[in-house]
Amino acid sequence: MTHHQHPLGSGFGPAATADEVLAGLDLTGKHVIVTGGGSGLGRESARALTRAGASVTVVSRSAGPPDRLDLMDPDSIDAFAARWRETGRPLDVLINNAGIPAPGEVRRDGRGNEAQFSTGHLGHFRLTLALRPALRAAGAAGGARVVNVSSGAHRFGEIRWDEPNFVHNYHPGAAYAQTKRANVLFAVELDRRWAADGIRGYAVHPGVVVGTTLNDGAGRESLRAQGLIDASGRPIIDPVAGKKTVTQGASTIVFAAASPLLKGIGGVYLKDNDIAVLDDTVRPLTPDRIPSDACSASIDPESAGRLWELSEALGVVDRAR
Ligand SMILES: NC(=O)c1ccc[n+]([C@@H]2O[C@H](COP(=O)([O-])OP(=O)(O)OC[C@H]3O[C@@H](n4cnc5c(N)ncnc54)[C@H](OP(=O)(O)O)[C@@H]3O)[C@@H](O)[C@H]2O)c1
Repeated sequence: MTHHQHPLGSGFGPAATADEVLAGLDLTGKHVIVTGGGSGLGRESARALTRAGASVTVVSRSAGPPDRLDLMDPDSIDAFAARWRETGRPLDVLINNAGIPAPGEVRRDGRGNEAQFSTGHLGHFRLTLALRPALRAAGAAGGARVVNVSSGAHRFGEIRWDEPNFVHNYHPGAAYAQTKRANVLFAVELDRRWAADGIRGYAVHPGVVVGTTLNDGAGRESLRAQGLIDASGRPIIDPVAGKKTVTQGASTIVFAAASPLLKGIGGVYLKDNDIAVLDDTVRPLTPDRIPSDACSASIDPESAGRLWELSEALGVVDRAR
């Protein structure tokens, strides 16, 4: 599906907000799940989709039952998915958004998987597969979408095929970037496998958004050095440079979730409310420039298939699903 990796000309620029992208769309009757929807970009996406008429379920560690979900805990994932399936509700859109601020010291889940990879990829992988029957039902009735919230950091990541859990040489940024690359590759392979069932996969770079727990974890010094806050600590908002407000950041997530322009297209990586261009030039991250276009390695079909296999093995997912 990589031939679709070029902009559509959606008409929305980088400064568009989530409400602007959804204006005129009626999502009444659509069921949406947002992971990590209790804060930041997930919360803003959930609110905008709700205003457009969708029935949105926000799952998080801090939610009460039945919407409690801990992506680092397979039992919690399976229990949530089973409850959803029991209701018989189709699932039109699954937004795999949750993530954690890169811990300075390596953290692991109960199976020994590195915490960012466990939360941001393996947990979402398990959840998505467990919800497949509900996605299939929506797929048959007009289309279902899985939206993985990635980051421009995917460009700096690589999957450490032999050592994805950083048993040696843990580096917080490398672990974050690996997870964000996995988010893109997962969308590519999901689309290849499930498009025939009407289920399409997308990956999204929301922009860089100061003020969420995830980004604030970097600390004031680091945010200032990255050109994300000014001398008095206020966020610098420059959407063309990729520095956005929360609602500008949520816009590409809801675009992927709902835009009719994406009908018949999947397995693509989006930014700024459109499909991103493919750019394989090596570009450093500077305070003025945040490289965030697609790159060939992140949408490579062979790597995408290989990651699926690795994820099944690491997550111990039932291969029959
Ligand atoms: N902010 C940015 O500049 C930026 C840039 C590029 C990409 N992103 C991506 O955008 C996504 C959202 O980030 P954000 O900036 O909005 O950060 P955020 O406000 O910290 O949101 C992250 C959410 O993840 C949830 N979460 C963490 N661990 C979890 C677990 N084990 N199980 C279930 N939920 C868990 C948290 O919910 P609870 O703590 O309530 O469980 C929280 O609501 C992330 O995937 C991030 O990588 C962000």
